[in-house]
Amino acid sequence: MSLAPITVATLAGMKAKGEPIACLTCYDASFARLLDSVGVDLMLVGDSLGMVLQGHRTTVPVTIEQMVYHAACVSRGRERALLVVDLPFLASATPERAIDAAGCLMQEGGAEVVKLEGGAPMLDTVRRLTEQGVPVCAHLGLLPQSVHRIGGYRFQGRDHASAEAIRHDAVAMQEAGASLLVLECVPAALASEIALMLSIPVIGIGAGAGCDGQVLVLHDMLGLNPGRPPSFSRNFMTGQVSIGDAVDAYVRAVKSREFPGRDEIPY
Ligand code: KIV
Repeated sequence: MSLAPITVATLAGMKAKGEPIACLTCYDASFARLLDSVGVDLMLVGDSLGMVLQGHRTTVPVTIEQMVYHAACVSRGRERALLVVDLPFLASATPERAIDAAGCLMQEGGAEVVKLEGGAPMLDTVRRLTEQGVPVCAHLGLLPQSVHRIGGYRFQGRDHASAEAIRHDAVAMQEAGASLLVLECVPAALASEIALMLSIPVIGIGAGAGCDGQVLVLHDMLGLNPGRPPSFSRNFMTGQVSIGDAVDAYVRAVKSREFPGRDEIPY
């Protein structure tokens, strides 16, 4: 494994070579060190921290100050992986708010890419951020920040119209300047088609094996969450003696395309 820091250009090169990108969420310095040591390519300080660290039922209560705090913790622990950080709920409601929030995440939190949820309404914001030199990761499919509007955490893109909207938004995000795309909980066939269509890397979660990379919530893949895990996740602690071994097994499973397996692809 090369120890050179990973950049958006490294990830684009991995896509071009067909090398799967292994991503995990990360929220603190000790896990950042551990994830780096086993070759995780991208660490996402996701606003999922509102659920897995803070115990909220949704990501909506998470604030920009909290995102900056956790991003800075991860940034201090990591040396190699690319650091992507979520803009929390309403931080991207206008391009001006998004630019201010991205400034905090990059200058105080050490973010190298900012991620924002949403399709067509976010295009102007993506353009404005990239014009200012902010690399953007778009996020389409299931949008957890919109859970109250959607009425639950539901798979998206299962009918013709919504699949077409996701396909269209994915191309538009790339044209607006996005460097990466996360596709969450969409049918595997749709995600593969989008990954083939785009030149930017497409990272899937609950989106099948045809994406350019995979991301899971750290606490889900370590079996740390009470209750039933998401159907697309896997408990990588099973049969392992340490957290390091479990994360290493995840990286190897993504790189060999063994994860996600057939029964971990819901649609
Ligand atoms: O917040 C998060 O952890 C995310 C992933 C689920 C992609 O956005």
